[in-house]
Amino acid sequence: MKAFELRQKYIDFFVSKGHKEIKSAPVIPENDPTCLFTTAGMHPLVPYLSGESHPAGKRLVDCQKCIRTGDIDEVGDPVHLTFFEMLGNWSLGDYFKAEAVEYSFEFLTSPEWLSIPIDKLAVTVFKGDADAPFDQEAYDIWRQLGIPEERIAKCGKKENWWGPAGLTGPCGPDTEMFYWTGEGEAPELFDPENKLWVEIWNDVFMQYNKKADGAYEALSQKNVDTGMGLERVTAVLQGKASCYDTELFQPLFGKLDEIRGIGAPAERVDSERIIADHMRAAVFISADGIAPGNVDQAYVLRRLIRRVIREANKIGIDKPFVTELAQVIIDNYQEPYHELAANATRIREEFETEEKQFAETLAKGTREFEKLIARVPAHVQKKIISGKNAFFLYETYGFPLELTEDMARENGFEVDREGFGKAYEKHQEMSRKGAEQKFKGGLADASEQTADLHTATHLLQQALRQILGDHVQQRGSNITAERLRFDFSHDDKVSQEDLHKVEFIVNDIIRQDLPIVCREMTVEEAKQEGAIGLFEDRYGNKVKVYSIGNFSKEICGGPHAANTGRLGRFKIKKEESSSRGVRRIKAVLIK
Ligand code: ALA
Repeated sequence: MKAFELRQKYIDFFVSKGHKEIKSAPVIPENDPTCLFTTAGMHPLVPYLSGESHPAGKRLVDCQKCIRTGDIDEVGDPVHLTFFEMLGNWSLGDYFKAEAVEYSFEFLTSPEWLSIPIDKLAVTVFKGDADAPFDQEAYDIWRQLGIPEERIAKCGKKENWWGPAGLTGPCGPDTEMFYWTGEGEAPELFDPENKLWVEIWNDVFMQYNKKADGAYEALSQKNVDTGMGLERVTAVLQGKASCYDTELFQPLFGKLDEIRGIGAPAERVDSERIIADHMRAAVFISADGIAPGNVDQAYVLRRLIRRVIREANKIGIDKPFVTELAQVIIDNYQEPYHELAANATRIREEFETEEKQFAETLAKGTREFEKLIARVPAHVQKKIISGKNAFFLYETYGFPLELTEDMARENGFEVDREGFGKAYEKHQEMSRKGAEQKFKGGLADASEQTADLHTATHLLQQALRQILGDHVQQRGSNITAERLRFDFSHDDKVSQEDLHKVEFIVNDIIRQDLPIVCREMTVEEAKQEGAIGLFEDRYGNKVKVYSIGNFSKEICGGPHAANTGRLGRFKIKKEESSSRGVRRIKAVLIK
């Protein structure tokens, strides 16, 4: 079965069980500043898992585009993917364990659907701990469906607990399904540690909310969140050892061979897999409005593209090629991801610019390297490039250690590997702390401050449109409990005078103490009413539109203040470039 067929079958199955299909949210979270990327299907649904009503109803199904950068350094082995699609079905306070498990079982085993023989399946359930008891219910349901005792493993939180997506929020015990990928019959006794058992689906029973103090409280409603990795399950069903062996990656490899002017090799190497994986992630991030840059998602995008180029150099590609590869992805995924074709020109242009810039950076780095070695007198016996300098080349010019080592060797130098490792670790530690900062505030803790800043963001966008023009559109938003950060399309620096006008307008609306009203309506109605926002067709028919008096009307997931009066004084702290054609404003509310 091909991946696209599996995707359609999954959606059809759950639609036949009364679920509404919803469109994938962008890979850049719109309402969750606690993470850089959408990491799971449940991620964009956090407000609804926490009790808000979803315009499309209580039973949903979709295929969500996800990015997990935690695995970025492991890419190249046969299993890790940075970008992947996650199939998922949700019950938002509707059905719970019995139906969820029965649906999973039916979809996997019924001849009408995936037709997997029961004796190739095994499951895990949560064994219980101080926070939540053993999941007897899930265990009993699997037994009733015919899964033998020996094929049900009981595991702890590490294996059988999911969420929250950030540091706080909805979470709960889960039950995972495994498929036997080994030769011949599966062993009677299921051992989840045996790598031939591959996890294919996860049903999460979200009934807890993890609070900032680490305690678990019961959620107001019991939800089901499930996740099935499309690429992995496709490989498993096709009997392939790796996702990279499926039809999803073959056109990319074919293009690479063409660029290199070679026939298809018998086996693919790590560099080829890294190129294919990173290109997919880069194209999807770019399609959702990010351009390569130096902060947050823009920086990840830059790293992805640059690593692609370095890996390509390793396998002998020394001419520009990234736009050709990007086009293969755009062509292959134009259905169902319309944003790829719609943004194709911009994606190609930005990738091309990045490729050129990186070539220049590499050239500069090489000059820097030459200066470094020229400083060491010729008579020195043991010529060393310090760890600090090797890290400087890595950090500033994107020189991987291996490249510095190669160049060092050619010039009779050695690199202090250990010193490099130390400098690298110190840097990682600092980034980790930076990342932890990002987990503060946000939708997950729907506090008053963040709700106020959400409302202020709507006011800011509308004021910018009034002063700068209607070309101003949201290109990113990130809110912590302390400040808002808003990225928008606009080419030039915004003058001080215009910034003052924007502040004045926002503060004027705050002073008028206008009410904020939320209404659900269809996308067409929202458009007719002149609402702005990026959520086109996101939730099937219905979207939420927040109006602030007659001043602003925007499609959004919330939460918001009840009226503008409580916002305090709005102050712009900084205006700067975020990436090409995108400006960034940081602002606060002073109470
Ligand atoms: N949220 C769950 C997962 O990602 C389904 O595995």
